[in-house]
Amino acid sequence: MSFDVDAVRADFPILSRQVNNRSLVYLDSGASAQKPRQVIEAITRAYEGEYANVHRGLHFLSNLATDNYERVRAIIARFLNAPHEDELIFTSGSTEGINLVSYGWAAPRLQAGDEIVLSVLEHHANIVPWHFLRERQGVVLKWVEPEPDGSLPPEKVLAAVGPRTKLIAVTHMSNVTGTVIDIGAIARGTDVPVLADGSQAAVHMPVDLAALGVDFYCVTGHKLYGPSGSGAMWIRRERQAEMRPFLGGGDMIRTVTRDAVEYADPPLRFEAGTPGIVNQIGLGAALEYLMDLGMDNIAAHERSLRDYARDRLGSLNWLQIQGDAPDKGAIFSMTMQGAHAHDLSTILDKRGIAVRAGSHCAMPLMEFFGITASARASFAMYNTRRDVDALVEGLTFCHELFA
Ligand code: ALA
Repeated sequence: MSFDVDAVRADFPILSRQVNNRSLVYLDSGASAQKPRQVIEAITRAYEGEYANVHRGLHFLSNLATDNYERVRAIIARFLNAPHEDELIFTSGSTEGINLVSYGWAAPRLQAGDEIVLSVLEHHANIVPWHFLRERQGVVLKWVEPEPDGSLPPEKVLAAVGPRTKLIAVTHMSNVTGTVIDIGAIARGTDVPVLADGSQAAVHMPVDLAALGVDFYCVTGHKLYGPSGSGAMWIRRERQAEMRPFLGGGDMIRTVTRDAVEYADPPLRFEAGTPGIVNQIGLGAALEYLMDLGMDNIAAHERSLRDYARDRLGSLNWLQIQGDAPDKGAIFSMTMQGAHAHDLSTILDKRGIAVRAGSHCAMPLMEFFGITASARASFAMYNTRRDVDALVEGLTFCHELFA
């Protein structure tokens, strides 16, 4: 099946708007992706005619909302090829998912001196929850540096594993450089549980949890063309059995008395309180949209965009691309001598081009590259070669301004 990017673009109303009197060139999907009409309509439908709280009422609307909400678990399971639906825990995004594992699985199990292996490529969401354990429990964080081009060979991660290592926490795709990490090879090479942060990867390539062999895998809905405040953490059943609940409240219990509480079975055990009902329904619509297009088709389109962008940006000898590993997604982190990343972003914005500038919630990686900030262009399935050309023109304008 071919991929019709113009038809995809037509599904995203925001892409036809003007910014600063120019056609929008949206190159900040790594921060958050735009939403197709199908998602917006699913949200509207839910609020206009199908809304009530879930799991609680016996009335018509509550049952309907519960069905619409719970069927998203099956959609996510299909999207990620997860072996069991009940291994998927709804979250507000990857930050909540990783904190759930930190508080629920790691905190009760890890002792002072136990180790967590992390890569320097990680987003703060996959760093700070582990720092909590370092600060509070004396857990040791062992850092693995990427190669200068941003790649991270699995054997380098495995070499850091020692007898006290209790967890390996690595991203599946860097949000800064787009580097893809072979998390399957890491999981196959050790018995230590592996947590993979799939926040970026799952947007750009097919994910097969049944084959990968990791123990924890998180996705975040707002990057997957779904609503902000939606997402899921997949936790292998054996690991779930080792967990204690993280948040306490309604919906996660079977009984509560003055003296005791009995918890509901997973996944509800890990989902306290009224959840992001409509957010998850919107996420379901987004994933159905992606599966209709086919993740292989999306990946092929983005590969061709990446290669084109790599050629065009690579030919600008005054531009530095931070981390340009061969196996990477269409994410380019750029610096230009004499121009701050914030200036690049501001000038590009005047031309209708949206990029992100800053440390991208990845300060250890910035330090590794010897920079404090970069301008990042992150491409998505709705981007085209015209967008790459607009970026190159915009950067050339910046270069002439600062030369
Ligand atoms: N994690 C998001 C980014 O990479 C916010 O920009």
